[in-house]
Amino acid sequence: MHNVTATQTVETIKKDKPDLKGTSFRLYLGGFMAAGKTSVGSKLSELTGLPFLDTDDLIEAMAGMSIAEIFATCGEGHFRELERRVLDETFKLKNVIVGLGGGVLVNPENKAKIMANGTLIMLDAAVNTIIKRASNQPGKRPLLREDNVAELLNKRRDAYKDAHFRVSTDEILVDEVASLIVQGLGLDVAKDMPKTRCETLQVRTKGTSYPVIVGRGILTSDKALNDTLQAFLGIHSGKPFIISDPITFTMFARKIKEASGFHLLPRGEEGKTLRQVSAIYEKLSQCGVDRKGLILAVGGGCVGDAAGFAASTWMRGIDIVHIPTTLIAQVDSSIGGKTAVNLPEGKNLVGTFHQPCCVIVDVNCLLSLPDEEFRQGMAEVIKYGLGEDREFFRWLSDNRRSILERDPDTLLEMVKRCIELKASIVEEDEKETSGARTRLNLGHTVAHGLEASSGYSKIKHGDAVAIGLVVAARMAVMLNLCRDETLAELLELLEFFGLPVRPDRPFDEVVAYLMKDKKFVGGRPTMVLPTEGGKCKVLQTSLELLGDAYRATTR
Ligand SMILES: NC(=O)c1ccc[n+]([C@@H]2O[C@H](COP(=O)([O-])OP(=O)(O)OC[C@H]3O[C@@H](n4cnc5c(N)ncnc54)[C@H](O)[C@@H]3O)[C@@H](O)[C@H]2O)c1
Repeated sequence: MHNVTATQTVETIKKDKPDLKGTSFRLYLGGFMAAGKTSVGSKLSELTGLPFLDTDDLIEAMAGMSIAEIFATCGEGHFRELERRVLDETFKLKNVIVGLGGGVLVNPENKAKIMANGTLIMLDAAVNTIIKRASNQPGKRPLLREDNVAELLNKRRDAYKDAHFRVSTDEILVDEVASLIVQGLGLDVAKDMPKTRCETLQVRTKGTSYPVIVGRGILTSDKALNDTLQAFLGIHSGKPFIISDPITFTMFARKIKEASGFHLLPRGEEGKTLRQVSAIYEKLSQCGVDRKGLILAVGGGCVGDAAGFAASTWMRGIDIVHIPTTLIAQVDSSIGGKTAVNLPEGKNLVGTFHQPCCVIVDVNCLLSLPDEEFRQGMAEVIKYGLGEDREFFRWLSDNRRSILERDPDTLLEMVKRCIELKASIVEEDEKETSGARTRLNLGHTVAHGLEASSGYSKIKHGDAVAIGLVVAARMAVMLNLCRDETLAELLELLEFFGLPVRPDRPFDEVVAYLMKDKKFVGGRPTMVLPTEGGKCKVLQTSLELLGDAYRATTR
C-alpha cells in the first residue's frame, strides 16, 4: 500500500504550490543513502521539464574526483565543506529539483537553509531496502556497509525527522513515488507542462546550412534529447565529446548517453583561456577524437566560445553541436559561429569563425537561471527589438510581465524571434565583412568603454549594454533618427527588467577607453544608432555628440 504521510498538511503544501510557469521554486529530495533520490529526481525532472541536480554529482564535477576519492584523499571534513558550498550554489538557482546527499541534512544549518529556501520532500526507506539497493552500486557510498545501515540510520533519525512532505519508497516503483509527490504538491503537470515540443529553424550561410532546434523539455527527457542528437551522431565517428562546466554538466548533460569523454571548464570567463583549450586538446587526444569526431558544448556563452574555438582548431576543425543554456547563449552566442578565448591583454582577442552543425535550444533551461544572468540576457533581447524589429520591441513591451515571470511559452516565442533575427544577420554577413553584423554592436561601443574603465569587474556586460543602448538611442534622438517616445519606451522596458539606464561614472573617465574601440576612426566614433524606419544604422558621428548624449544620460 502507498504510504504517504505529511508532517505538514497537504493544504499547507498546496498554498506554496509551484505552478511550473516560472515562479521560483526549489524542490529538495532528502533521505538516507539509496532512498531513491536520484531516480525519483530524474523522473520528476522529466515530468516537470525542470532540471535535476544531485549534490553529490555536482561535488564530483567541481572537485574533478569521485566521492570515494575525496573521502580517501581529503577526508570527510573536506567533503562536508564541499557539500555546504554546493548547497549554497543551489540557492542561487531557480526552479530546480535537487537530490541531497545522505549527510546534507545532518548539519542543522544546511537543513534550516533548505527549509527556508525550498520545499523539502523526505524519501523514507527501510533498512532492508537500503541494503538491497546499495548492493547494486558497490563503491558509490563510502560510509555505507551492510552491518552499519541500521546504526547510521538511527543516528540520522533526527536529521530526517522534519520535512514539508514525506513518502515511503519501500516496495513502490520510482514512477509511483514521483506521482505521489506531484499529487502531494498539487502540481498540474499535464496542464502546466505540455509534452516536449520543438521546431526547427535554419541558418544558411554561404558555406553551410544548419538547423536550430528550439523547444521545451528537450534536455530533461532522455528520449527527446538522445533522439534529437541521434541524427547528428550517425554521420560522425565514435561517440560525442562533451564540453561543459560543472553546473551545466550536472543539470543538463547527464542524460546524454555514451559520450567518449568530457572536459569541464571553470565557470564564466575563467573557462575561456588558452590553458583550458590546451586541456581540452589533451582530453580529445586521450579519447581518440579524430577528424570525424563531434563535440557537444553544453552551457552558457563562455562554454560555447571556448568549445567552439577548440572544435575549430582540433585537427584543423571538427564538428560541434551547441546546446546553449543561458539566455545570452540561446539568443546570441550559439548562433553565427564566432568563437573566442581571452588573453591577459583583453577579452575575445583570439578566435575563429566556425559554424556549428546544429544548435539545440531548450528554453526550459532559462527557468533555472539566476535572476542576474537572466537580466543580462534581456539587455541583448531588447537590443534586437530596438535595432532590428520594432514590432518585436512592442511585443516585448506588451509581454513584459510574462517574460519576467518566465512563462515558458512566452520565452519560447521570444527566443525564437531573436534566433531568427540573429540568423538573418549572419546569413547576410557571415564574417563581419559587409557591415550587417556590425549592427549587432548597437549599444556595445559605450558598453565596452564602461566595462574596460571598470577593469571588467564592477559592471556586468548586459548591464553595460543597457546603458549603451540608452546613450545610442539618445544620440539617435539628437540626430532626429528616433522619436523621444522610443527613448522613453526603451527606458521603461530596461528599468522594468531591472537593467541600469544611467552610467555610474563621468564621460571623462570613460572616453579614453571608448577611443580604443576599433570603431573609432581618426578620433571620430562610428556608432550603431536605432532609427524609426527599420533596421539600425551604422554612422560616423562626432566625439562631441557622443559626449553630449552620454552626459545627458548620466543626469
Ligand atoms: N560568440 C558570440 O557570438 C558571443 C556573443 C555574445 C556573447 N558571447 C560571450 O558569451 C559569454 C557570456 O555568456 P553567458 O552570459 O552565457 O555567461 P556564462 O557562460 O558565464 O554563464 C553564466 C553562468 O550561468 C551558469 N549557467 C549556465 N546555464 C545555466 C542555467 N540554465 N541555469 C543556471 N545557471 C546556468 C553558468 O554555470 C555560469 O556560471 C562572454 O564571454 C561573451 O564574450 C559570445
